[in-house]
Amino acid sequence: MCGICGAVGLRHATPIIFEGLRRLEYRGYDSAGIATLVDGQVERRRAAGKLDNLADLLAQDPLPGTTGIGHTRWATHGAPTTGNAHPHGTSRVAIVHNGIIENFETLRRELEGAGQVFETETDSETIAQLVDYHLQQGLTPKEAALRTLRRLEGAYAVAMIFAGHEGLMIGACHNAPLAVGFGDEEMFLGSDSLALAPLTRRIAYMENGDCVILTPQRADFMTFDGTPVERQVQVTALTAGAIGKDGYRHYMEKELHEHPLVIGQTLQRMVDPATRRVSLPDLPFNLASVPRAVITACGSAFYAGMVGRYWLEELARLPVDIDVASEMRYRDPPLTPGSLGLLISQSGETADTLAALRGLREKAIHILSVLNVEHSTMARESDTVLGTVAGPEISVASTKAFTAQLTVLACLSIATARARGKLDSLREEELVGALLDLPSRAADVFKQGDAIRTMARVVAEARDVLYLGRGSLFPVAMEGALKLKEISYIHAEAYAAGEMKHGPISLIDRSVPIVATAPSTPLFDKTLSNLQEAKARGGRLLVFTDTRGAERVGAIAEHMVVLPSVHDFVAPILQTIPVQILAYEVAVLKGTDVDQPRNLAKSVTVE
Ligand code: F6R
Repeated sequence: MCGICGAVGLRHATPIIFEGLRRLEYRGYDSAGIATLVDGQVERRRAAGKLDNLADLLAQDPLPGTTGIGHTRWATHGAPTTGNAHPHGTSRVAIVHNGIIENFETLRRELEGAGQVFETETDSETIAQLVDYHLQQGLTPKEAALRTLRRLEGAYAVAMIFAGHEGLMIGACHNAPLAVGFGDEEMFLGSDSLALAPLTRRIAYMENGDCVILTPQRADFMTFDGTPVERQVQVTALTAGAIGKDGYRHYMEKELHEHPLVIGQTLQRMVDPATRRVSLPDLPFNLASVPRAVITACGSAFYAGMVGRYWLEELARLPVDIDVASEMRYRDPPLTPGSLGLLISQSGETADTLAALRGLREKAIHILSVLNVEHSTMARESDTVLGTVAGPEISVASTKAFTAQLTVLACLSIATARARGKLDSLREEELVGALLDLPSRAADVFKQGDAIRTMARVVAEARDVLYLGRGSLFPVAMEGALKLKEISYIHAEAYAAGEMKHGPISLIDRSVPIVATAPSTPLFDKTLSNLQEAKARGGRLLVFTDTRGAERVGAIAEHMVVLPSVHDFVAPILQTIPVQILAYEVAVLKGTDVDQPRNLAKSVTVE
C-alpha cells in the first residue's frame, strides 16, 4: 500500500526510480511522482492516476539529477489528485511516505502556528513541513530528520532528500516495510526487494524504529535517537526477470497458470515423497499439547484459514476459533497459554493481521504464520514461519498465494493430527498422496478453459451473483465471490448452500445466476438438494463439479465445468482454481483493469 523507491549515486536517478515504481505499482496506483535534486534544488514531477501518466509527464518535462525519491500512492488522507501526490516538500526538503501519521492534525496545527504553509490535505505533508521547520532552525538534515521521526505517531516508511545536499538520502520506518539496496557506488531504498531486484541483490531489511543515512558509498543505520545499529546485508534470490508477464495478457492470468508449479514447490518444502510423510521444520512448541488454535487473516487469506479450520478440526480434532483480523484485533478471546495463534498473509504486512498477531502474542501463545514474503514484518514477529513458495504475486487479486496457503495448511493439519495421535501412517500416506497428485490435477483444470468461458459469458451479463458451497467448499465459494467483486465489479455473495432457505433464496430469479462448487465430497448430496431448491425457483445453475459428480450435476445445471476427481481432502484446493479463472474471464469480458482494480492496492498496510 503505497510504494517507495529512492536512489543516490552517480547515475541518472529518474529512470532507476521509475523502474522501481513500475515494480511497486501493485501497492497503489492513484497517483505517482518523483523528486530529484537538480543543481542542488528540489524538483518534482507528479501525476494523478497510473504510472503511465507520470511517464508522459517525464517525457515532456524530464527530471535530471543523481539523488532522488519516488512514490506510487494509494490514497488515505486527501483525494487522489496531482496536488496530493507524493513527493511532498518545500524548497528545502522532499519526502515520500507510506503509511498513516496518526497525530498529523496536532502537528499540523502546531506547525501552522509556527508559520509553516501547507499545500495539501495529506497527513504525509506534515513530515515534510516538520523537517523543513527544523532545517530553518539550523539543524542538519540528519538532526532535522531524527527530531521529526521522534514526533511521528502511526505507521510509516519514509524517504527524504534535501536541497543543497547532493548524494544524501535518509530513510526511516516504523510499522511499515523499507529495504536498503547496496549497489556499487550507489545506494537505493525500496518498499520491498522486488523494487530493488533489477538494481542489486544485496539488501538490508530495516527494522521498526530504524533510520538510515545513505550516501553513494555507505549506509549508516541508527535508532531515532541516533544510536548506531547494525543491519545485516542479505543476498536475495529475486532477479530482475522475476516479474515479467511472460506473454500472458495480465499478471493475474500468468499467476493463475502458476498454480500447479506453486503447489508443487510448496509441497517440496513440506512433504517427503519417498515416505509420503509431512515433514515440517522444527517448531519451538509441541503440536501435541496445543489446547486450541486461533486463526486470523484478511480477505482471501482468511478464506484459506477457514478451510484450515475444517481440516484442523476434522483431522487433528483441534478446537479452532477463527475471525477476520480486523475483528480479532479488537476481540479479547479467553485463551489458555500454550494455544496456537495461526496467522495467514501473502504480504506479511497487512496492518490488521499484524495487529492481531501482536494482540495474540500478549496472551503468551505460540505465533505461527503462513507467509509468502519471507522478509516481512510478520515474519520477524512470529515464533515460526511456514513459507508458501508462491513467488512474487503482482496482480492485486490473490490467486496462487491462496492455493499455496491451502497447501501449507493441509500439511500443517496432517502434522498436527499425527502429533495428536489422530492419524495413522496409512492414512497419512493416503492424504499426502492426494496432495502430491495435485500439481498434475491442477494443470488439468486449464483444459476446461472453454467451459469456464461459457459460464463467464452468463456471469458477465449479471448484476448480482450468488456463490454456494458446503463444508470446506464454502470458503471456496467465498473466495470465488470476492474475486468476482474485486476485479469485475459485479456484486456477488457467498452462502453456505444450506443457509439459502433462511433468507437469500428470496433473491433467486433468472437474473441472479448461482455459481456452485459441488464436487463429489461427502456433502455432495446435500449440496445438490440445495441446488435443486434454487432451480425449482427459477435459478440458473452454473456448477463446478468433478468427473464422479458430472452426471447428476449435468441433469440440473445450465452450465457445468467438470474437473478431475480428487481426494475429498484436497478438493478445496483444486476447486479454487476454476472459480478464480471464472472471475478472471468475466473481468476480461467486462474490460476492467484486471491487475489493478479500482480503489484497491495490494499489501494493505493501513487499518
Ligand atoms: C483478494 C486479496 C485480498 C488479500 C488480503 C490479505 O484477492 O488479495 O483479500 O487476500 O488483503 O492480504 P495478505 O494476504 O497480504 O495479508
